[in-house]
Amino acid sequence: MKLSINGTEVEAAEGQNVLEAALDAGIYIPHLCKHPDLEAVGGCRLCMVEVEGTDGPVCACKTPVAEGMVVSTTGEAAERVRKMAMELILATHPTDCTGCPKYGKCELQSMYQYMGVSPTRWRVKSRPVATDDKNPLITHMFTRCIRCGRCVRACRELRGVGVLDYQHTEEGIRIGTDGSVSLQQAGCRFCGACIEVCPTGSIVDTLNMFDENKSYADNVVPCRSGCPAHVDIPRYLRHIRNGEYTQAAAVVREKVPFPESLGDICVHNCQGACKRNGLNGTPVSVCRLKRAAAVRDEGTWKANVRHEPLTGKRVAVVGAGPAGLTAALYCAEKGHQVKVFEANEKVGGQMRYGIPAYRLPDETVDAEVATILEISQASDPEPRIELACGARVADPKALLSEGFDAVLVTIGTHDGTVLPMAGHDLEGVVRNTDFLKAARRGEAEDLTGLRVMVLGGGNVAYDCARTAVRLGAASVDMACLEAEAVMTSTPEERAEAAEEGVVLHDAYAFTSINESAEGSGKVGSMTIHKIERFYFDENHRAVTELLDGGEMTIDVDRVIFAVGQKPEGTADMGFELTHGPYIVADAEGKTSVEGVWAAGDCVTGTKSVIAAIAAGRECASAIDRALGGDGEIDGELTEHEAPCQHIGRAPEGFYGEAVQPQFRDAEERKHDFDVFECPYTEQEATCEASRCLQCDLRLTLTSPRLWNEY
Ligand code: FES
Repeated sequence: MKLSINGTEVEAAEGQNVLEAALDAGIYIPHLCKHPDLEAVGGCRLCMVEVEGTDGPVCACKTPVAEGMVVSTTGEAAERVRKMAMELILATHPTDCTGCPKYGKCELQSMYQYMGVSPTRWRVKSRPVATDDKNPLITHMFTRCIRCGRCVRACRELRGVGVLDYQHTEEGIRIGTDGSVSLQQAGCRFCGACIEVCPTGSIVDTLNMFDENKSYADNVVPCRSGCPAHVDIPRYLRHIRNGEYTQAAAVVREKVPFPESLGDICVHNCQGACKRNGLNGTPVSVCRLKRAAAVRDEGTWKANVRHEPLTGKRVAVVGAGPAGLTAALYCAEKGHQVKVFEANEKVGGQMRYGIPAYRLPDETVDAEVATILEISQASDPEPRIELACGARVADPKALLSEGFDAVLVTIGTHDGTVLPMAGHDLEGVVRNTDFLKAARRGEAEDLTGLRVMVLGGGNVAYDCARTAVRLGAASVDMACLEAEAVMTSTPEERAEAAEEGVVLHDAYAFTSINESAEGSGKVGSMTIHKIERFYFDENHRAVTELLDGGEMTIDVDRVIFAVGQKPEGTADMGFELTHGPYIVADAEGKTSVEGVWAAGDCVTGTKSVIAAIAAGRECASAIDRALGGDGEIDGELTEHEAPCQHIGRAPEGFYGEAVQPQFRDAEERKHDFDVFECPYTEQEATCEASRCLQCDLRLTLTSPRLWNEY
């Protein structure tokens, strides 16, 4: 239907109100209690307009449009009521706008500036109501509340939670929970809808929770931004909650081609960032849920994989670890022929040779590599990805003259570091990389009856220690410089290793590896010394202050260095290097050699499988652009359904601890290399996924436009 607003003919849909029709037509009318996603209540009286044939001004948000209606937003009577309403709101509102977390983004501030209303003309005084900062994640600054009721309606009508309402208190009417109980006691879902719709700085995310260097969306959904590959975690957790495992796996696969491997071994930065850490200290078990989806994936998403026509370009990938295979897949999807050169007899890199089989079995890596080959080939007669194993490439740039248009180096860090300390060259001193690789190949030494010391405190050190246990060691000790509280290994890893008999000596310096008997040339013991203080000086050098009398010597037969690892063979590849053997590459992975890219641990130092995958993605995109493509590698493997807004009050168990999967008993598991953690059952997966706060849901709400955006 057609109506006239300020002399302009405007089209409106039946059922719209005058405010909606005006805003849709780009005509601004001030409004506060009306939010685009909430029903109008006509409370703030800022949207006053005059309608021909009607006595006095009316609320635009409560006036339905009608054919031929003539509306004026600038009439004197309407302006008078509107200004009066604004002055009354401002009379009790604090004037310290610059101290408000919403400063510059506040709808109230924007609106009174638009209306030319003085914030102090009718000043009564601001209401000195104490800020409620006792709840996790959400702070309620009552003095900034203008009682527009948006938060109450969002909580009740949009979310179906209904824990917020107007409360009559000794301090007057304010927004809160019934009986002023905590949000948790009231059954809040901590979805943040109240924060999102609040037009002022009254309800805000806990102060200082956000990182100024991140975007708003990244701060609101920290798990997704915390994941190096930015997997859409809340989206796939919703699918798991609904029992849609294939769709969940598809969401993961939109960013990473190794969902099951990651479900087994990911360092899960997302869990460190999960807002549930601030709620009850236990994040959602995102990693285990990823595995739960991957093991039930039926692969129907394969039909949606990008498969662009062949470009005639050839890409060589040197190193078939997670970075190289990821890049190979995305380059193939973009239409390039890829050949992957791998020095080892099998592909997988650290996933196969650096991580013990009890954490990530060969079958999982094999299956995921097979899927990469299958989906990249699709219906082509020839594979788009060729794997060449047992093919060490000493000079990657030479491949450019062998018909390849681009070369990507992803050789990882397979050279374990041995510290040049006394006794480091004795027989029985082993490097982490050699030790773990031998175990994966079934070529490891039988350690039955031997005593082992592992030096290092990261996850790789634990991999070595627990592998030594499984190889029959009589005892396994670990020593590391860091105190346990700051060790880089996960608490779960430490607890599981302790159950298997690994003894940790944290905060110890390595003094010497000692010979077993004069002239034997073999390891006999290890001396370590308790550290009183450990810090880095102004030159970033580690300084250790030793405790008097804190020396200890432990009889051992083998010492395994697990204190770091570095790339092999880069000195002769002709690249600019840094920090010794690491390849210098820019943000896109470009090296100092034209036409050659590098990614993953050989550039960044040893990080994680997910970081390597993310780097592989970046490089694939950059290589595609360099070869004439658009670099677009993101795609939708499953429909992006709008999430249900109506989440209801917190169900029983919502605030509880994470669901624990079944584990094989330590006494049993320490004798073999079989996987010891069972995937979540469907029921366990549903329960755990239901603990997600769905932080992304609030981003689906409409942001009201400020007047200067019209
Ligand atoms: Fe219409 Fe508040 S927006 S009365």
